[in-house]
Amino acid sequence: MTREVKKAVFPVAGLGTRFLPATKANPKEMLPVVDKPLIQYAVEEAVAAGIEELIFVTSSSKRAIEDHFDKNYELESRLELDGKYELLKTVQDIVPRGVVCLYVRQPEALGLGHAVLCAKPLVGREPFAVILADDLIKSDGAGCLSEMVKAFSYHGGSILGVEEIPVSETDKYGIVSTTLLDERISRIDAIVEKPKPDKAPSNLAVVGRYILSPVLFELLEKVETGAGGEIQLTDAIAELLEHEQVLSYRFTGKRYDCGSKLGYLQATVEFALEHPELRDAFREYLQAIPDADILLTRQQ
Ligand code: G1P
Repeated sequence: MTREVKKAVFPVAGLGTRFLPATKANPKEMLPVVDKPLIQYAVEEAVAAGIEELIFVTSSSKRAIEDHFDKNYELESRLELDGKYELLKTVQDIVPRGVVCLYVRQPEALGLGHAVLCAKPLVGREPFAVILADDLIKSDGAGCLSEMVKAFSYHGGSILGVEEIPVSETDKYGIVSTTLLDERISRIDAIVEKPKPDKAPSNLAVVGRYILSPVLFELLEKVETGAGGEIQLTDAIAELLEHEQVLSYRFTGKRYDCGSKLGYLQATVEFALEHPELRDAFREYLQAIPDADILLTRQQ
């Protein structure tokens, strides 16, 4: 089996109910953090990791995602006419040369496992990445997926991105129990989807980065409905543990849970503080916020 990862699957068919009404007509993956939609951050991370085929598992209400990664002749010719070449390049470079976008529909929201299974005909029999765009990861290095691809080229098998979370939050994540192999890599011994804190095997949570063996597709085909009445990726991975090595990888960098309003706001503030055009003015604004403090106290 090859140890190269050239395909990434982006499950983007979810309903985004945590962000309603903002996500009634707009996909949650199109919510911007400063000036880029979440899905574009995810795609940039994949491309930086050497991914050449971007496979989006979409639904009928997600057309904006296809449009975002397609050419927009009208906009481009307007920017060119107006001499706005820098903006033109920004728009044209969203999908770099040599990278292709493929789309497949998930007809019903039956869960993350089902969404990944929809990509099977486009992935075929090779290892592939899965990226959940609402886990936004800021990295000082090459990016979380790049780190995982590197680990995969050495270890093979399957690899899941993990981080420690507060014990009180285990019921929001896939939770693993592991045996340490080296500083960042562990062998996964067990995995369970969204256990209550008193049932969780650890506080090590799977975040939205996976490199998976194609054997997983066969297991997904057989897996039964699990937590939340959905076909869970975690349940198929639990099955995969019986057949192949699955590792966890503690990535460097900081993850923002942009599927929650608080995480999304934190990402917005911290990305703005690093944005070349905004950071100085925004920092000044934040520094003046004690005034807002007084306002808030007055309102109570
Ligand atoms: C999904 C997975 C879960 C994982 C999480 C990471 O849950 O089912 O195992 O830990 O993504 O963000 P969701 O956030 O879609 O409920």
